Amino acid sequence: MLNGTAVFFIFGELFESIIKAKNPSSIKPEVFDMISKTMEQALNKQVNRELYSAYLYLSMSSYFECNNLKGFAKWMRVQAKEEQSHALKIYDYLIARGGMINLLDIEAPKAKWSSAGKVFEEVYAHEQKVTDMINGLVDLAMKEKDHASFEMLQWFVKEQVEEEKNASDILAEVTCIGDIPGHLFFLDHKLEKRE
Ligand SMILES: [Fe+2]
Ligand SMILES: [Fe+2]
Repeated sequence: MLNGTAVFFIFGELFESIIKAKNPSSIKPEVFDMISKTMEQALNKQVNRELYSAYLYLSMSSYFECNNLKGFAKWMRVQAKEEQSHALKIYDYLIARGGMINLLDIEAPKAKWSSAGKVFEEVYAHEQKVTDMINGLVDLAMKEKDHASFEMLQWFVKEQVEEEKNASDILAEVTCIGDIPGHLFFLDHKLEKRE
């Protein structure tokens, strides 16, 4: 006499072999929840843009290192790491949805700026551009009725509000200070505290 667990196990195995026989390419159940090719492609592109953001902020960090602004350099380095985690968040989501990962070339960022103010002007403009990209992905998820992607992207919608605020707050401070070395070093000390 078979108990409930054994019956469940046998029928589970049987069900899986029937599915494999009908569709030999199916290996795991996740393939049933495959993301659309359009969304897959758009999210792969966003992985690339998040990695580009990490590259850009790392380049800005090296610019500050060269200019002996260690606090600014640290802030940018932490920011670069955050952008890598954004890329991995989308990467992990694509894997979970049975999507293909397509790692694209990462564009080389620029390496020189004329002042700390110019760097933060670019950070702010860049984050605004990323917000547009995220909004575009949300629009696509709605168009495709892809509720899971819509839900995942809400985290990024909120994150972009914070990203734009942080960039514009620091830009306002740097603009106020100008390039007066003493004041700039005071802000540098403040930014060094970022974990
Ligand atoms: Fe990001
Ligand atoms: Fe960002």
